[in-house]
Amino acid sequence: MDLLILGIGELVTPKGSAAQAGRAQRELVVLRNAYVAIRGGRIAAIGQGRCPSFSGPVLDCAGRCVTPGLVDPHTHAVFAGNRVQEFLARARGEKYTGGGIFTTVRATRAASEEELVQLAKPRLLRMLAQGVTTVEVKSGYGLSLADELKILRAIRRLSETLPMALVPTFMGAHAFPPEVGRDEYVRLLVEEMLPVVAKDGLARFCDVFCDRGFYTVEEARRILEAARRLGLGLKVHADELAYVGAAELAADLRATSAEHLLHVSEEGIQALARGGTVAVLLPGTAFLLDEPYPPARRLIEAGVPVALGTDFNPGSCPLASLPFIMSLAVLKLGMTAEEVLTAVTLNAAASLNLAQEIGSVEAGKRADLVVWDVRAFEEIPYWMGQNLVWAVIKDGSLVIFPPDK
Ligand code: NIG
Ligand code: FE
Repeated sequence: MDLLILGIGELVTPKGSAAQAGRAQRELVVLRNAYVAIRGGRIAAIGQGRCPSFSGPVLDCAGRCVTPGLVDPHTHAVFAGNRVQEFLARARGEKYTGGGIFTTVRATRAASEEELVQLAKPRLLRMLAQGVTTVEVKSGYGLSLADELKILRAIRRLSETLPMALVPTFMGAHAFPPEVGRDEYVRLLVEEMLPVVAKDGLARFCDVFCDRGFYTVEEARRILEAARRLGLGLKVHADELAYVGAAELAADLRATSAEHLLHVSEEGIQALARGGTVAVLLPGTAFLLDEPYPPARRLIEAGVPVALGTDFNPGSCPLASLPFIMSLAVLKLGMTAEEVLTAVTLNAAASLNLAQEIGSVEAGKRADLVVWDVRAFEEIPYWMGQNLVWAVIKDGSLVIFPPDK
């Protein structure tokens, strides 16, 4: 699609085709009075001042701020039912153990693929309306071959119908199903489920919940090594509920990302920095569970590239707003507004192996852009809990229209 976006008060973007770590995470390009020309769904030219003649539709931003489309690199958005009773019980002081996952597994097993598609569609469209143009979605509420495939097929159908990019992750290792022995389920994952998922191209990544009460480091290693042999990228739900050494495992396996990290050790941080693994932080979960926040500053200072996601799921994090996560990151993780913007664009893209295609506004990349109804990008985390999106462009097409158009 062709489009000329002009009248941009402030165009703000990180730069590059790889994750940015340390100081580089806060280096942004800021262009005032800018324009972006799009040809064939990709960014053709960026400039300042008078724009070149252009044959095609024009969008005048009238001084508003433009950023890359946001990337949510960690969600569990396909599920049935809800856990409102668990939410209220937690508000009365009950502790989260992860046991509620089975409530969602029962509801998700009872739903058809079509029902899962219809349930997830409005959730994902609400994310798009808040500026998210790419979303990673994990399976993991099926815990049997048939039910995990049903979820992954629902994700595939959603990606064929929605005007946003979805990145599917197989997370059959999210819990242990009650009807199968523990060792038997690990064998099933390795020998039966992963090969089918990989053969049908239903997932790009494999993720394992390596934590207290869930998969041990040894079990996670076995599953992730099998996934790697089948060509899948690796992710780890690491040290969320307790320290178990999962970040060290992620680094050792050269996983693309280690996620959560509420209880990561100093050694784990150093190992992630050496391994070039992206830390995907999910402060919405700490906020909702009233747990300590992940050590974002220590990670950045150690040279680990930090990304941010929602972790949207019906249990630990019914919060689906990435802009709200940006506010939490400034307020509670001590990240600068610049670091936060890189975390939800280029670094999030890198955590999905997509940094060459998306995550920054640069010639040649896909034209995924958000026009915000603010003058300066620091206002995005500042005006908390309000939807400031004025327009969203995905692959060069307007998919969220300005209110007056
Ligand atoms: O990322 N950590 C594992 N899974 C989810 C929660 C799943 C649930 O409670 O349903 C998470 O927090
Ligand atoms: Fe999660």
